[in-house]
Amino acid sequence: MPRFITIAAHDPDLVIGKDGELPWRIPEDLRHFKNTTMGKPMLMGRGVFEEFNEKPLPGRPCYVLTSGNYSNVTTFRSIEEAVNYFEKSNYDEVFIIGGGQIYKQTMDLADRLIITEVHQSYGGDVFFPEYRHEVGKTWQEIEREDHDGFSFVTYERG
Ligand SMILES: NC(=O)c1ccc[n+]([C@@H]2O[C@H](COP(=O)([O-])OP(=O)(O)OC[C@H]3O[C@@H](n4cnc5c(N)ncnc54)[C@H](OP(=O)(O)O)[C@@H]3O)[C@@H](O)[C@H]2O)c1
Repeated sequence: MPRFITIAAHDPDLVIGKDGELPWRIPEDLRHFKNTTMGKPMLMGRGVFEEFNEKPLPGRPCYVLTSGNYSNVTTFRSIEEAVNYFEKSNYDEVFIIGGGQIYKQTMDLADRLIITEVHQSYGGDVFFPEYRHEVGKTWQEIEREDHDGFSFVTYERG
């Protein structure tokens, strides 16, 4: 079974999205996302895939959870179907890249969380699941890098 790595950016209220988009524009975070995921398979919900204009991002195999049909990517009808597929794959890591519905359904699956803490509150309509009360219990902070306006934090299960 590959390791599942969840990558997300949230604000102090766990907001991750607004009107189908990111609520903020942080170029360093987009670069961090690109550098971290490059070459790795990415599992996402149909909402995120739409945000990518229904095209896979370059250099990263794209897997979409949806009840719909797309000819340019592999789709799954359920989390179980996705897990069965990745179990049989040769991948050592799979990145879970959201959105809100997918993060919520895969928190138990994730081995690692790579979080961008956005320091300012933005307000929005899509949220990351509450996990912070599990920090120091389920989730151990193993890395933190503070920047102006945001922090990159990594949590490992265990
Ligand atoms: N800040 C961040 O790090 C971050 C990261 C990612 C996304 N976002 C934001 O999050 C928002 C999008 O999130 P969202 O919750 O609206 O959408 P989403 O999670 O990307 O996608 C939801 C869709 O995924 C499909 N789906 C959900 N559960 C499924 C399951 N168990 N099996 C098969 N298909 C399933 C359904 O597609 P069908 O309707 O086609 O069946 C559902 O409508 C946007 O605002 C985006 O900008 C933020």
